[in-house]
Amino acid sequence: MAESGGQVDVIFDQHWRLYRKVIESNYMDHEEIVEAFSNHWVKTAGGKPMGRVLDLGCGDAEVPSQIVEQFGCVSFTGVDSSGKALEEAAKRPIWDTVESRWITADLRDLSQLDREKFDTVFAGFTAHHLSREEKEAFLGEIGRLLKQDGIFYFFDVFLLESMEREESIDQYLEWIAEDWKKITKAEYDMIDTHIRAADFPETVSWIDEAVKKAGLCISRVRLPIKNKFHLAFALTRKSP
Ligand SMILES: C[S@@+](CC[C@H](N)C(=O)[O-])C[C@H]1O[C@@H](n2cnc3c(N)ncnc32)[C@H](O)[C@@H]1O
Repeated sequence: MAESGGQVDVIFDQHWRLYRKVIESNYMDHEEIVEAFSNHWVKTAGGKPMGRVLDLGCGDAEVPSQIVEQFGCVSFTGVDSSGKALEEAAKRPIWDTVESRWITADLRDLSQLDREKFDTVFAGFTAHHLSREEKEAFLGEIGRLLKQDGIFYFFDVFLLESMEREESIDQYLEWIAEDWKKITKAEYDMIDTHIRAADFPETVSWIDEAVKKAGLCISRVRLPIKNKFHLAFALTRKSP
């Protein structure tokens, strides 16, 4: 049965409060990811202000808000299917200081951005919700949206190499059960149900191939995140 608008909001609020708790406890390595991207930006661009920035599946835009706080940007566009997440994102004070725009859209249809190009694109912990075909199309869209010398900051949960989804997800959930000490039993159950139903991570080698097919990468830097399930990459396009 389809959820009514009110029910969807209640479900979203529960998940969102839980996701905030996960971020604030740094269980998904957001702190390391921000640090890795900041260091990369200083090294490759001398820490100058970013140009036009896009975050796909932004949620409440934890990572780009911290990056933009440090370096500034010309404009910021956040895209997410959840209007509620975008409302939360827009409350961050940093977005009062730069031109910002919030688009409620599905990552499987980015036609609203048809005529646009961005200097920096972020996509974090979101592509793994898509099917293989959708991930390929999504990466293709990023290839189209990114300016020639732009940078794609990509971070996600990955499948361990040569493991089937179920086995890798079992290991991921075992790690969560052991490591995420502040999570209650009811919260763990919510996470377990969500991950088993909605997470379709890929191996790094699969993503590498998809990225190549999308005509996107060619030079990629794997950034130092300690956790074996969460990886962050800076993908750049070489000038022709
Ligand atoms: C785990 S959160 C990640 C949020 C944020 N990027 C971060 O790094 O913490 C996943 C986000 O992707 C969004 N999302 C999932 N599937 C989507 C889709 N098909 N289209 C648009 N947004 C989607 C969700 O609404 C949620 O905000």
